[in-house]
Amino acid sequence: MNQITQDKRMNDHKTDFDPLRDVQAGGGPGMRSFIYGHLAPEAFPIADLLAACEQSLREDGSLALQYGPQQGYGPLIDYLRTKIEHDEGLSLGREYLTITAGCAGALDAIARLFTQPGDAILVEAPTYADTLHLFRDHRLRLFQVPIDEKGLIVEATAQRLEELHRAGERPKFIYTIANFQNPTGVTLSVERRKQLIDLVRAHDVRIIEDDVYRDLRYEGEVPPSLFALDESHEAVIRVGSFSKILSPGLRLGWVTAAPQIIERMTNCGLRSMGGGDNPFAAHVVTAFCTRGLLEPHIARLREIYRARRDAALNALARSMPPGVTWTQPRGGFFVWLTLPASLLARQVIAAAEQRGVTCLPGDLFFAEGGGERNLRLAFSYLSPADITQGITALGDAIHSLNG
Ligand SMILES: Cc1ncc(COP(=O)(O)O)c(C=O)c1O
Repeated sequence: MNQITQDKRMNDHKTDFDPLRDVQAGGGPGMRSFIYGHLAPEAFPIADLLAACEQSLREDGSLALQYGPQQGYGPLIDYLRTKIEHDEGLSLGREYLTITAGCAGALDAIARLFTQPGDAILVEAPTYADTLHLFRDHRLRLFQVPIDEKGLIVEATAQRLEELHRAGERPKFIYTIANFQNPTGVTLSVERRKQLIDLVRAHDVRIIEDDVYRDLRYEGEVPPSLFALDESHEAVIRVGSFSKILSPGLRLGWVTAAPQIIERMTNCGLRSMGGGDNPFAAHVVTAFCTRGLLEPHIARLREIYRARRDAALNALARSMPPGVTWTQPRGGFFVWLTLPASLLARQVIAAAEQRGVTCLPGDLFFAEGGGERNLRLAFSYLSPADITQGITALGDAIHSLNG
């Protein structure tokens, strides 16, 4: 489909919406939806990916279409090593990386290979709802620890670990989204990162660091990753992804971790049977990245999403009644609203949907309850104009309920 037809369909809110083909941003026709953290429709470098695809098939077709090496396509691993060295000053051997089917594929493999049903995992409250779903698929038992505007509260984590130890529980992992967290947009402070590393070393528990938003910062610096701060690289399994910086349709991500973790992920039955994850996509992405296209593309994405973030924060400041508060994300895709005590999120969403706007209620993001007065707004998909109008309508809905 050409861009004009696609844009028209977006403006028509896709009356020909087909759920087997299009996920869209949820909410159905005619709705301004803040539900999904989907990429901006104009954020895909389609012409460059077409050229990379053609190059992969022309120059290396019989390799690109073959079963791939179990650890992942070597040149992509090497590209990532260069990127990590450039961005984070970390020099990693190939044995520290593996290519995965996105962050989702990595988390599923980690749960499958390093936990048993019934194991305890600590998660942030709130955290990404689909990770809760994924961990529950593996019959893991989830315990939550609160976060604030500086991310995971380390003292509360220590307390929860102590309580669990007293009850005979030894959690296997702490799962954290340290940068521009989903759903709140908050970032874990450097000081807390260091404290968290000390804590997990003392308690012999590992961190799973979900770092899919690292490159999408709109101001300031991104703090060093937990993986980098843990110089031994023993305590942290870090997961990255091309989903947010290139395309989730490629289903491509990576893990950086200690060599014995990478070795286990590489030599598992799934990969022994099927080879490494998504080799064709890995060839295409390598062709794209090694032509020097990823860095300028990320710079463009930052402009696109910064404008959306600003539109969201400006509209919130203009439209929300007193008593409503929200986070100030410095990157990523999400703003987290807290409603006054008199209002419930689901009641607000029902009123907002009558005004043509929708978003997700906060309770979906808690493993053990909470979030009844919170809303998650994903600002990545809608245009700045739609964001402004959508948030204005949300503000009207809240005013109407406030009396
Ligand atoms: C925190 C977080 N982790 C993982 C994912 C999924 O990543 P991927 O597409 O690489 O599987 C998302 C997507 O929204 C996310 O927000």
